[in-house]
Amino acid sequence: MKTDYSIKSGLVSWQSPSNIALIKYWGKKGFQIPANASLSITLSESVTRTKIEYRPGTGKMLFYFEDKKNQAFAGKIAKYMEIIADELPYVKYLDFEIQSRNTFPHSAGIASSASAMSALALCLCSIENDISKNNLEENKNFYQRASHFARIGSGSASRSVYGKLSSWGKSEFIPDSSDLFASPVQFTVHPFFENFQDTILIVSKGEKKVSSSAGHGLMKENPFARSRYSQASANLAKLIHALKTGNSEDFIAIVENEALTLHGMMMASNPGYILMKPNTVAIIKKIQDFREQSGVNLCFTLDAGPNVHVLYPETERAGAGAFIEQELKPLCEAGQIIYDKMGNGPQRIN
Ligand code: DP6
Repeated sequence: MKTDYSIKSGLVSWQSPSNIALIKYWGKKGFQIPANASLSITLSESVTRTKIEYRPGTGKMLFYFEDKKNQAFAGKIAKYMEIIADELPYVKYLDFEIQSRNTFPHSAGIASSASAMSALALCLCSIENDISKNNLEENKNFYQRASHFARIGSGSASRSVYGKLSSWGKSEFIPDSSDLFASPVQFTVHPFFENFQDTILIVSKGEKKVSSSAGHGLMKENPFARSRYSQASANLAKLIHALKTGNSEDFIAIVENEALTLHGMMMASNPGYILMKPNTVAIIKKIQDFREQSGVNLCFTLDAGPNVHVLYPETERAGAGAFIEQELKPLCEAGQIIYDKMGNGPQRIN
């Protein structure tokens, strides 16, 4: 990459979505290197919009989250900039004013690091483009580079740079895969998964008991870690097959197995954490019973927290929607639900 910059002022803005992992990244083997490959659905409605104004300077930064100055976030981003300064030296010669907002409520307990860090990384790569002689925005390298910088901010953010389905982490089942950046799924996905729906049930809006960084750290001493990483690899192979063939039974079995294993790993850590709430368990039970009785193809997945993501194809919207409204909504905090779905990835905003 050329570092032949002509330092000037400017403004860039990107919106970038959150994502939900089907195969979970849980455990690292070095600085922001995943212990296993993961695969996720990029969402459509849950996005972060980030705007950066820059001018010649010395790396000073102002950060506003939802129009309010936020020192805590500014501190985190300053540290992040220090880490990436070797690869993006211009960050030392500019001052930044960053404004960021989410479309989803801040207190909804939704992990926002994927959307936030991918939006920031895309802005930083656009600034690099704007002030350097290269214009990479149209080509693959731009997104690969953005995914690389997003990963350094938060591993799951690396996958948000692409729409639909994306994977991150070296895997024998994914050609050209890398631990350093994510890539969009290359194979043809069965139409069953087109416009896949993700309804997010907010079971609890509370702060997380343990950050995901700390959770990843606990995998180091987890006696089941090695088995987990081979299970993740086997599940990835099976999931790829299910995505290609449209085998919904296998899809459901793998996705729910991944969610429960993630929570199982947290429980088996030392100290152990129970991240589900009683209503998380009640919702899971209702989903499984409803699926068995109605034959509607829906399943659940979980983040490292109590909220439940209900996944189903567009064709099941009527059945799944009525069930969610009548049976699951009453189990959510203040009845809060976010209807999201598979999306097309980040967009540069003018
Ligand atoms: C359970 O990407 O938040 O959501 O790299 O430390 O920022 P850091 O972790 P993060 O971990 C995400 C964990 C997960 C599973 C997943 O998204 O793959």
